[in-house]
Amino acid sequence: MKPRLIVSRQMPSAVGNRIAAEFDCPVPGGEDIDAETMLRLVTQTRADALLFTSHLKLNADVIAALPAHVKIAATCSVGFDHVDLAAARARGLPVTNTPEVLNECTADLAFMLLLNACRRGHEYEAVMRNGWRKGMGMGEMLGIRAWGKTLGILGLGGIGRAMAARARGFGMKIVYCNRTRLPPELELGAQWFARFEDMLPHCDFLSLHAPSGPETMAIINAQTLSLLPKGAVFVNAARGALVDENALIEALKSGQLAAAGLDVFHNEPSYDLRFAELPNVFLTPHMGSATHETRRAMGFRAIDNIQAVLAGKPAIDPLWS
Ligand code: DGY
Repeated sequence: MKPRLIVSRQMPSAVGNRIAAEFDCPVPGGEDIDAETMLRLVTQTRADALLFTSHLKLNADVIAALPAHVKIAATCSVGFDHVDLAAARARGLPVTNTPEVLNECTADLAFMLLLNACRRGHEYEAVMRNGWRKGMGMGEMLGIRAWGKTLGILGLGGIGRAMAARARGFGMKIVYCNRTRLPPELELGAQWFARFEDMLPHCDFLSLHAPSGPETMAIINAQTLSLLPKGAVFVNAARGALVDENALIEALKSGQLAAAGLDVFHNEPSYDLRFAELPNVFLTPHMGSATHETRRAMGFRAIDNIQAVLAGKPAIDPLWS
């Protein structure tokens, strides 16, 4: 008999095929399922495992309501701020994520945000879609040169380092802030700052690659934004919770920030529409890992975690131990 699985969101077809081959799974019709529906489905089907994504919040109440036959919850994401890990540990529920496999594609998207913010991608595209028809003067609609600038990275983990690798190709100097300094083979010449506030005055560009948590909550706020050089460019492909969005909008309006590229927001998908009114912002709908290759790898990694735990082996990517 195949193990029983509940999936909270539609998966790419290769992942869906593997699920169909390896599990007994009443896959929902492509719609996201909420916590209530998930709990009903896992109970009805006596599911052994849950495969979910960040839209489904596994808070303490939801975890407490999960029947004991659910032996693992695997999130198909690297981030896990949607899971109450303390509650999972208390209940003895293994929770896993999908690290590493999305590093390169998420960094690609973050760099795309950076270049589009610097080079007015959204505005140029709008000119073209409106017909163009009038040549640009030499001083008109100028952007910011990316080459040779200093990029500040908050969180030089796997994605941060992939971002740094791209930036080096653009002749950039890298400065970073992590709790602890990395060894030279990971730093690769990047300059470490123990205090975020001390790094900010050095950043022409600032890109966030740190997880969301109590330490990073609203770390981008009126005070930290004021420490950046005037006209800096800001990129966020990490989590919206790291940013005080009112302060960010104010900095974009006042010119303290020249531009921003944003993939993540406080309220997703119902993000603050004031961002859409700002010409100097390039926006994407939380798509950092969204390539065929990476989404397939993430789905497979989540399935591998589930199969390991159901086979009585240690999880590959446990979030608590
Ligand atoms: C991740 O994997 O954490 C992405 O941001 C998708 O949620």
